[in-house]
Amino acid sequence: MFQLNALANAWPVEWYDEIDSTSALAGRRAVDGVQEPVWFAAKAQTAGRGRLGRKWISETGNLYTTALIPIDGLSPAVAGVSLSIGLAVRDMVIELSQGRLIPGLKWPNDVRIDGAKLSGILLESGRSSQTKQFWLSIGIGINLAFAPDIPDYATVSLAKVLPDLAVPPEAALTVLDGCLRGRLTQFSKFGMSSVIDDWMKATDQIGAICRSQLGDQTIQGEFHGLDEHGHMCLNTSTGEIVTITAGDVELVKER
Ligand code: BTN
Repeated sequence: MFQLNALANAWPVEWYDEIDSTSALAGRRAVDGVQEPVWFAAKAQTAGRGRLGRKWISETGNLYTTALIPIDGLSPAVAGVSLSIGLAVRDMVIELSQGRLIPGLKWPNDVRIDGAKLSGILLESGRSSQTKQFWLSIGIGINLAFAPDIPDYATVSLAKVLPDLAVPPEAALTVLDGCLRGRLTQFSKFGMSSVIDDWMKATDQIGAICRSQLGDQTIQGEFHGLDEHGHMCLNTSTGEIVTITAGDVELVKER
């Protein structure tokens, strides 16, 4: 999916004091085609985008960034990329906290501390109408300094759990760049099974009762791991194993 040599060296960063959304910017830039990976990063966003059309609160202090990457084509392998990104953000937190914080992962790529959300990831893809080059944009928001208040939803920041750890967004992005290139290299070289093995060791979802939407159907069941494509399997009350390929997952009951 990626050219391995594009993952070898640090990706350049374009920093903005304020922008509408780094992912919206990536989409605009992608129209002209993408030759090499690039990070767009902003201190604040005025129209931060979350998954499923939600808003992402983007005041100064946290990290808001999007990597825009040329890819060979749109493929189901994007599920492996999605898991790899969650692992990369988790690696970043472990590195920045020098091992004091070990986050858990919730499918597909939420990074959590004690069940509260620390970061969000938004994947978008397309093809340049001008150059016909396919692209992938990886939007990442990480609560470094503060955790937005969201009704009925637990959020956390690095500063809240480790008040002595003041991480500027620039420093976080430098570490994230290395972690993300490392995980994408792992995926490219060793494939999905290697990523799934690591993801399963890192998830905090084992034994949890999960609820997800499958079309207009709501599926509830115990987390049963991932299939070989990286999709989530739920063990429902009838004993049927149902595979969830996309969408939001609500944890009805943690382990
Ligand atoms: C989610 O809903 O969990 C995903 C949130 C993704 C937010 C990031 S912040 C940087 C990038 N720019 C955006 O507008 N969104 C993503």
